[in-house]
Amino acid sequence: MLRDTTLREFILYSRRGRTDSNWTSLHDAGRLDIVYECIIASLFLSHGIRRDTVFHAILNGPPKPPVHLEINGETIYNVRTNQETWMKILKKVLSGKEHPGIRLSKTSFETLIRAEAEKAKIYVLEEGGKDVFECEIGENPIFVLGDHVGLPKKVEAFALRFGEKISLGKTPYLAASCITILNYLLDRKKTVENSAKFLSP
Ligand SMILES: C[S@@+](CC[C@H](N)C(=O)[O-])C[C@H]1O[C@@H](n2cnc3c(N)ncnc32)[C@H](O)[C@@H]1O
Repeated sequence: MLRDTTLREFILYSRRGRTDSNWTSLHDAGRLDIVYECIIASLFLSHGIRRDTVFHAILNGPPKPPVHLEINGETIYNVRTNQETWMKILKKVLSGKEHPGIRLSKTSFETLIRAEAEKAKIYVLEEGGKDVFECEIGENPIFVLGDHVGLPKKVEAFALRFGEKISLGKTPYLAASCITILNYLLDRKKTVENSAKFLSP
C-alpha cells in the first residue's frame, strides 16, 4: 500500500495500565480507558483510518510491566471506534492472541524512546513547554504524552534527552484531546503546504 511520506507517531506512558487480561472494565484496568481514547484520537477519521499514524502505549501496571502496545494505522483492520470493540481487542492481545496491525512486546519506555530517536525528533507534551505555534514541527514527528496523572519526572527527563518539551497552551487537556489537536494542526499544515506548492508558479 502506498502511503504519504510523512509519518506521525504518538507514545502514551500509562503508569498503571494492566498488563494482563483479567479485568472487566477499561477504567478499572489501570485506566486503560485513557489508552482506548488515545487510540481513537490517534488513528481514526470519520469513515477512515489514518494510515500514516502509529500509536504506542507503554503499560506499566501489574502483573508484568512493562508491555509495549503498538498499533499501526497502515495495517490495522477489523476495528471500530466503540469502547466494546476495543475492550475485546485489548483483552485479546493482552492474553497473547493476535490482531492484525497490533504488536505487543516487553520493550520498555527507555528502549522505545532510544529507538524512535534514531528515526526522528521527539516532542514531549507538557503545559510548561515551548508554545507549539513557535515550534517548527519536523518530518515524521514523534509525540510523548502522559496519562491522567501526567508523566513521571524521571520519565519526562529521560525523553527530553532526545527531544524538546512543547505546549498546547496553559489549559490542561485530556491526553486524547492533545492528540486530536496535534492531528488537526498537522493536517492543516499539510493542506497549507500542499496549496502553497500548488499555487507557486
Ligand atoms: C490529563 S494530562 C495530565 C495532567 C496532569 N495533572 C499533569 O500534571 O501532567 C495528560 C497529558 O496530556 C498532556 N497535556 C495536557 N495538557 C497539555 C497542554 N496544554 N500542553 C501540552 N501537553 C498537555 C501532557 O502530556 C499530560 O501528561
